[in-house]
Amino acid sequence: MARAPLVESKNLNMSKKLSSKLAERLLLQGELRMELRLRRKAEGQLTVLKLGGSVITEKDKPMTAKLEVMERLAKEIVDADAAPLVIVHGGGSFGHTIAKKYNIKEGFNEPSQIGGFSKTHQAMLELNRLVVDALIRNNIAAFPISPSSCITTKLGRIEVFYDGATKRLLDTGFVPVLFGDTVLDSNLGFTILSGDQIVAALAIKLGAGRVIFGVDVDGLYTADPKHDSSAQVIPRITLRELRALLHNIGGARVDDVTGGMLGKVSELIPAVEAGVQAIVISATKEGNVYKALKKEKVSGTLIEKE
Ligand code: IPE
Repeated sequence: MARAPLVESKNLNMSKKLSSKLAERLLLQGELRMELRLRRKAEGQLTVLKLGGSVITEKDKPMTAKLEVMERLAKEIVDADAAPLVIVHGGGSFGHTIAKKYNIKEGFNEPSQIGGFSKTHQAMLELNRLVVDALIRNNIAAFPISPSSCITTKLGRIEVFYDGATKRLLDTGFVPVLFGDTVLDSNLGFTILSGDQIVAALAIKLGAGRVIFGVDVDGLYTADPKHDSSAQVIPRITLRELRALLHNIGGARVDDVTGGMLGKVSELIPAVEAGVQAIVISATKEGNVYKALKKEKVSGTLIEKE
């Protein structure tokens, strides 16, 4: 009668020993993985991926998400296994529609805008939840970060950016997901901060090697493809050429496809100047985001310092 517990406790001891060995091995593997990840990061291998609002939402239908596109993109991202990675998404028909209605970008001018400021942020949180849901469903350790909680601006330009949480999340192995957002502004009261400006700031602050700018056109064009059938995608452009293009087109056409795109892409200039390579690709075309993350050949526009 006395033996049974002895055998049991022997087994228990053995299994304890086994499980502690296993735990040790797993811990070692984990540490190795962490070390590898940190090493990759140290080599400037961080990628910042922008998913444009017109890629993930129906631009002309307020508050309408393209769920199947989000799902496809999440699959491409997990298949590419491109850690360390930060994702920033745009507002599309979630943020832009409400922001426009209440003139949020122009700043705080009248009390009726206050509700609009909250509603715009809330719409962005809704869109962010859909993006993060799709990523998590596909086994990506995505973690949302609200830019309005860690960034303030001065006349629309980033003035303070507390990036501690983003850095810590990256070091732990997460994929932080930020977005264009409503932010507090030291001159305007509040305003809208585009995901594009966040992309460049993050790329500089975190020492990224590359920015992948996923939009709904094939890259930068020689002319507006909507009005000029001879317009062609520019495969590679230097900063000097980009500035000349911006100068030629001027501010007047900043709302059309080429100008609008150029205006958004011009936000990347400081990052490219700091040595980050940027590539503008169509994220609406299946496989492009995967290829770009894998550094495979993909059609689009490569922006380089020189
Ligand atoms: C806009 O962010 C955010 C809001 C309107 C709140 P972006 O300017 O990056 O969005 P897209 O990519 O153009 O839609």
